Amino acid sequence: MNIHFAPVQGHTDAPYRRIHAECYRPADTYYTPFIRLERGAPRSRDMRDILPEANTGLHLVPQVIFRDADELLPLVEALSEAGAREIDINMGCPFPLQTARGRGAALAGNADAARLVRRVTEGNPEISFSVKMRLGMSDPDEWRRVLPILNDASLHHVTLHPRVARQQYGGEVDMERFGEFYSMSENPVVYNGDLLTPEDVARLAGEFPDLEGIMIGRGLLGRPSLTDEIAEGSPWEHGRRVKAMLGFHRRLLNHYEDILCGDAQLISKIQPFWEYAEEEIGRKPWKAIKKAGNMAKYHSAVAMISPSGD
Ligand SMILES: Cc1cc2nc3c(=O)[nH]c(=O)nc-3n(C[C@H](O)[C@H](O)[C@H](O)COP(=O)(O)O)c2cc1C
Repeated sequence: MNIHFAPVQGHTDAPYRRIHAECYRPADTYYTPFIRLERGAPRSRDMRDILPEANTGLHLVPQVIFRDADELLPLVEALSEAGAREIDINMGCPFPLQTARGRGAALAGNADAARLVRRVTEGNPEISFSVKMRLGMSDPDEWRRVLPILNDASLHHVTLHPRVARQQYGGEVDMERFGEFYSMSENPVVYNGDLLTPEDVARLAGEFPDLEGIMIGRGLLGRPSLTDEIAEGSPWEHGRRVKAMLGFHRRLLNHYEDILCGDAQLISKIQPFWEYAEEEIGRKPWKAIKKAGNMAKYHSAVAMISPSGD
């Protein structure tokens, strides 16, 4: 079963992906945060983020977000010209800024969008496409309008995060509907949502043995050794995880020290990398990192993290 590192805006940019893959067993696939069209073209910094030299040692799939053919076709063309042979299509983003413009989860129940995806896959046979989606915007049965059409498209896989957009990232995942989606999909299925431990993954794999893979976002940001732990089939003890994580974050800091100027820029870039690690590093250091207003305070906060978990 493949491990997909979920795209997370503000976190999983090229430096994070590359340093993760250097410090840990690389995930089988990493995705870029969604790339969108801005004034007729993808932003140049998004195009820099997919350059092979920025992504050495890992398998990267760029992800696009779109409203209609006028957005999807130029995005596919630009990525294809840049050498992409795999593209993930976002039909699940719940951010109101995107859904209000008809993108992301606004398309999870949109048959026209699914037909467009099918047409794009047929028109670009040299590219392997995947789709990442939710159950719907607020009705958890919207996907039923889309899945039969996606079944006719030849996709590498469909990733389902079994929540509706209205839930954002909270509330229960709907495993019953995930089970239905899994058995009705004719394309391979990847599960995404709330996987935090190797035990969560083992349970899921037991229940859905034919999954193409699992996609993990917040779980990996908070416990980046999960790629090793899942592959090895046994959890690392806490002290080892924390020690490795301190080394990983030190390397992220070193990277950004070299390219950013000044405390303010540096701290606003690296502080959020700890956002999902409260459980792993303990509440006190986690809060101190969040509150740190300068690098000196950041360093003292990180020094509070104890590998023994005290
Ligand atoms: C801050 C944030 C940014 C995200 N950015 C993206 C994105 O650019 N593209 C995307 O498909 N999903 C994005 N996601 C969703 C994640 O990829 C993933 O589907 C979600 O976090 C649920 O998985 P998890 O429970 O393993 O974190 C984002 C999630 C968060 C919390």
